[in-house]
Amino acid sequence: MLHTLAIANYRSLRELIVPLGQINVITGANGSGKSSLYRALRLLAESAQGRLVGTLAQEGGFPSTLWAGPENISRAMKRGEVPVQGTVRKEVISLKLGFAADDFGYAIDLGLPEQAPDDPSFFLKDPHFKRECIWAGPVLRESVLLADRDHSLCKVRNGRDWQILSRHVPPYDSLFSHCADPLRAAEVLALRERMRAWRFYDHLRSDAQAPARQAQIGTYTPVLAHDGGDLAAALQTIRELGRGEEMDAAITDAFPGARIEIVVENSRFSVQMWQSGLLRPLSAAELSDGTLRYLLLVAALLSPRPPELLVLNEPETSLHPDLLPALARLIGAAAAHSQVIVVSHAARLVTALSRLREAQVLQLEKELGASRLLDQTPLDRPAWQWPVR
Ligand SMILES: Nc1ncnc2c1ncn2[C@@H]1O[C@H](COP(=O)(O)OP(=O)(O)O)[C@@H](O)[C@H]1O
Ligand SMILES: [Mg+2]
Repeated sequence: MLHTLAIANYRSLRELIVPLGQINVITGANGSGKSSLYRALRLLAESAQGRLVGTLAQEGGFPSTLWAGPENISRAMKRGEVPVQGTVRKEVISLKLGFAADDFGYAIDLGLPEQAPDDPSFFLKDPHFKRECIWAGPVLRESVLLADRDHSLCKVRNGRDWQILSRHVPPYDSLFSHCADPLRAAEVLALRERMRAWRFYDHLRSDAQAPARQAQIGTYTPVLAHDGGDLAAALQTIRELGRGEEMDAAITDAFPGARIEIVVENSRFSVQMWQSGLLRPLSAAELSDGTLRYLLLVAALLSPRPPELLVLNEPETSLHPDLLPALARLIGAAAAHSQVIVVSHAARLVTALSRLREAQVLQLEKELGASRLLDQTPLDRPAWQWPVR
């Protein structure tokens, strides 16, 4: 289980150290930083996929994702006695992301390329990996470092000594891409595989053209695709692998008297839903946005291959408020097998989730442009140490 998430200088997250439990509900007003926190988590996962630099570029480029406020916010600025203003930058530009789990921790420090004044390169705004560390235990210390990437040098601990894996790691690649050696760096490989298995669901499509509305060739599907196109096969897989009763209960919980049936025609799978009061079942193409969205969430959350970490971004979108308590119970069922992080703007969902056992609500607010956790004092911030350059 992850118990700490740490982010620095990413959009409005100037420095956020977040304690995590089994079920975590991230909420807050518009603009408080919820989506930024979700994206920061995705960026961490992308580093294990080798896609971090490309993802940052798609978000508008590295410079635009960096915290746009001053390096330091003085007490006088907080009290409004002096305007918010930048000072001469003393520290280097650095976007940092990290987490600590029960066994391992990982952190990255991204910065700008070191450039000569006359460098003609077009890529001077690409982020470079400056430092990347994997350590054992809750907090980074020199003595618990297991793998260390310092610019282009990557080394792993080997008993009392360090073994150099590469002196030429490209600055735009993570150590996961270059140093996940099964023999010499088993921890790097193990952590990479775990991070690759984190599962994110963000706006499952339920619009009129949504892939889930069409019949699809079906194969064994223990994990719902991101666009939800394999909904029927995923629901059938849940049934065949023994979570059918849970699935039926989740559907009647939201739609009393309703049930679903998977039909196969010409090897194409489709979902039909029987609802009380109707003489024939409705096909997925005929379901309301909200109903289809709920079925997609059932397929995602009751996956017969639960991930270690499941992250849901605004799962309430297009759901009728009356469905939110049922969704909260469904999330509770998923949390029996996965650590769950839910980013939500829906008060009713947040309230319902907060009643689940082992749930904590983390509320973001903004202070002078920087996101912070409501009620977090320096004393209840989890222990955290960034790698230094
Ligand atoms: N580079 C940046 N530096 C500082 N603040 C930023 C930066 N980019 C965006 N923001 C601000 O971050 C805030 C948080 O946005 P977002 O995470 O989308 O909030 P939410 O999802 O809670 O509505 C927005 O108010 C936006 O103005
Ligand atoms: Mg948002």
